[in-house]
Amino acid sequence: MRAIVQDRYGSPGDLRLREIERPAVGDDEVLVRVRAASVHPDVWHVVTGHPFVLRLMGSGLLRPGCPVPGTDLAGVVEAVGGNVTRFQPGDEVFGESVRGHSWRNGGTFAEYASVPADGLAAKPANVTFAQAAVVPTAGYITLLNLSGVRVLPGARVLVNGAGGGVGALAVQIAKADGAHVTGVEHTRKLELVRALGADEVLDHTRDDFTRADQRYDLIVDIPGNHPVAACRRVLTPEGTYVLVGHDQFGRTGHGWLGSLPRFAKLAMLSLFVRQLRGRASSGLGKREAMNRLAAYLAAGQLTPVIDRAYPLGEAAEAIRHLAEGEPVGRIVLTI
Ligand SMILES: NC(=O)c1ccc[n+]([C@@H]2O[C@H](COP(=O)([O-])OP(=O)(O)OC[C@H]3O[C@@H](n4cnc5c(N)ncnc54)[C@H](OP(=O)(O)O)[C@@H]3O)[C@@H](O)[C@H]2O)c1
Repeated sequence: MRAIVQDRYGSPGDLRLREIERPAVGDDEVLVRVRAASVHPDVWHVVTGHPFVLRLMGSGLLRPGCPVPGTDLAGVVEAVGGNVTRFQPGDEVFGESVRGHSWRNGGTFAEYASVPADGLAAKPANVTFAQAAVVPTAGYITLLNLSGVRVLPGARVLVNGAGGGVGALAVQIAKADGAHVTGVEHTRKLELVRALGADEVLDHTRDDFTRADQRYDLIVDIPGNHPVAACRRVLTPEGTYVLVGHDQFGRTGHGWLGSLPRFAKLAMLSLFVRQLRGRASSGLGKREAMNRLAAYLAAGQLTPVIDRAYPLGEAAEAIRHLAEGEPVGRIVLTI
């Protein structure tokens, strides 16, 4: 099969399109003929090996353990393992190929990928393969970080970074829960954030939400570009602050540990400050998360927006566009 292969950590230019063996299917796995795979920040992290700590966290010390990048996909079931009863050949599915968190290659930038059955759900008929493929990784991060956080109808929710992968899903899920949502983004993405359903938008190049008078019941902070104390100032006393964290494609400069020290500090503070959530560690399983994402999609409550689709052979260009091209919406490989 054709696949994108990464022999070492480096730059998108190190990726090669090659013929390799189709992956074997384990007993609990499903072999999927990949039709689309998404290009998201964690793909960039593993391609570049940045921050260094990801190499110690299962990605592979000297080179990636799995040489084929990509963690999420949408496609058609080709074959199922011996223990799999939920899917059969011909089913249209979408999902995430890595177990747990995604700082490692998952083999989806290829014509075929073997995926744990629990990481898959049936693809709703009202979304395309490309739209479905951009949801699983960002969706799992979003649901994991929101698990245990109650969003009541009418609650004031602020999403900082509302036009990105996680932010767009957080906006739409909070809207589906009946919240009043404020999205903070760069000027060029404000229209997108409004289209996602945000009730109000703030342009981070002009407005600093931490200095305004509005108070929020929940802040979902993807870039984490304000001190936690400043964010707390605009939380209601019972409000919750959730940090997702984003290394801005290396531009934050934390080359060794990335956002981890910030999470460690937050986890410690969260022992004393009720408004703060430490790093999300709920037991939310992939299967439950995928089923919930599929239900949101089927109900029209999540609408993934695609910035640009690239053919498999242009994966390097797609990753460069993600990191440097100021995309508005998600980037996807169609295979
Ligand atoms: N916490 C967890 O559980 C967990 C687990 C796994 C991964 N992650 C991390 O989660 C992140 C998810 O990112 P994503 O997919 O949402 O990334 P993304 O698609 O790049 O979105 C980030 C958004 O934030 C915007 N932004 C940047 N600076 C901003 C600012 N100062 N104010 C407001 N918005 C700003 C970006 O706009 P521009 O395009 O203009 O920069 C972009 O729209 C990744 O970095 C991943 O490594 C977290």
